[in-house]
Amino acid sequence: MKTTKISVIGVGYLGAVHAAAMADLGHDVVGLDIDAERIATLQAGRAPFHEPGFEDILARGLDADLLRFTTDYADIADADVHFLGLGTPQQADGFGADLSYLEAAVDALAEVLPARGGAPTLVVGKSTVPAGTARMLAGRLEQVEGVTLMWNPEFLREGFAVKDTLDPDRLVYGVHDTEDPVAAQAVAMLDAVYARILEREAPRLVMGYEAAELVKASANAFLATKISFINAVAEMCEVTGADVTDVARAIGMDDRIGAKFLRAGVGFGGGCLPKDIRAFLASAEENGVGEALGFLREVDAVNERRRARVVALAGEMLGDLAGRRVTVLGAAFKPLSDDTRDSPALDVACRLRAAGALVTVTRTPRRCGTPSAASADWWSSSRTPPRHCAERS
Ligand SMILES: NC(=O)c1ccc[n+]([C@@H]2O[C@H](COP(=O)([O-])OP(=O)(O)OC[C@H]3O[C@@H](n4cnc5c(N)ncnc54)[C@H](O)[C@@H]3O)[C@@H](O)[C@H]2O)c1
Repeated sequence: MKTTKISVIGVGYLGAVHAAAMADLGHDVVGLDIDAERIATLQAGRAPFHEPGFEDILARGLDADLLRFTTDYADIADADVHFLGLGTPQQADGFGADLSYLEAAVDALAEVLPARGGAPTLVVGKSTVPAGTARMLAGRLEQVEGVTLMWNPEFLREGFAVKDTLDPDRLVYGVHDTEDPVAAQAVAMLDAVYARILEREAPRLVMGYEAAELVKASANAFLATKISFINAVAEMCEVTGADVTDVARAIGMDDRIGAKFLRAGVGFGGGCLPKDIRAFLASAEENGVGEALGFLREVDAVNERRRARVVALAGEMLGDLAGRRVTVLGAAFKPLSDDTRDSPALDVACRLRAAGALVTVTRTPRRCGTPSAASADWWSSSRTPPRHCAERS
């Protein structure tokens, strides 16, 4: 396999795993981030977050001298392929995606790329973005000779990120024009990077930028809708006396529906689904088809209601919550992860606290399979409210 010089810009959950995975495929990789502490942690071989298997591939890459980390864009100037793993959070004042991190990174990259003297260079976006973003960013790179931009959305699941990166169920390549020979060259370059993944016969789909962007937005919207669907059915079950697990099990047996993402509960959270459905809705509105995706507003509302319902249930069981001691077991938004971004658990903890309960949240310490009272790292929301709580109050 041909080794490619690669940079990964933005080494958060997605980018750090991607960088280590690319080194594991045998490439020569530099991970770049503006967060110096994160870079020092990764360079020291420590994972800044919990992700099964990540520390192993991180250590392998560092030991083999195929992986290093930097905060300096000059250190990535000679890479042939640059992956963009920047965050696209919800805007502070609206539902749309904040693209400023991507824009800043692309502009910083554009400054160092001329040093390559026009040699073929591929920039590959991996972040989740609204349709139109890739074309906008390609415009910012237009002046740099030899550069082509592709969009290759990431479908990894936190908790399975290493496996999903090295053994994805599909690869989607978005190009500026599927008929353009320049796009064909870019596809060949990315194929060379993913050669070992493609050997395992992962389906690889080439399409226009906008389709690739919409694949990711629609996939997340579909998953969120499925979760909110069963949670909406759960509301109906509660008032009619039906058991939603019976209903879910039976409808999930229909192949056309499937059992996954059909478990009623506290709803979805994390750094992706909530902000992605809102960004999808905002993008539809900007494009004049807000009505088409208006149902996502309801998907979001059903999801928010679940959190309130957990607190209401606690109230039904305990009576007045004021002064009652409540423990929330687990702070992350899902199992096998320590990601607390938009965590339903923390939201519920904050709502309970707002109702007067004395709340303790447990977190499983790193490298520990199961949470336990003895080994847990405790914090009390009455002592240090997380940013999440401060925002809500
Ligand atoms: N986390 C997931 O499970 C997942 C899965 C699929 C897709 N995505 C998408 O991938 C993108 C990244 O998500 P994430 O969870 O890794 O976010 P993250 O916030 O963990 O990581 C983003 C990183 O980019 C860095 N950064 C910001 N500005 C920079 C700049 N100018 N130059 C270099 N680095 C910079 C930040 O310091 C941070 O470390 C988002 O669009 C997200 O929706 C995430």
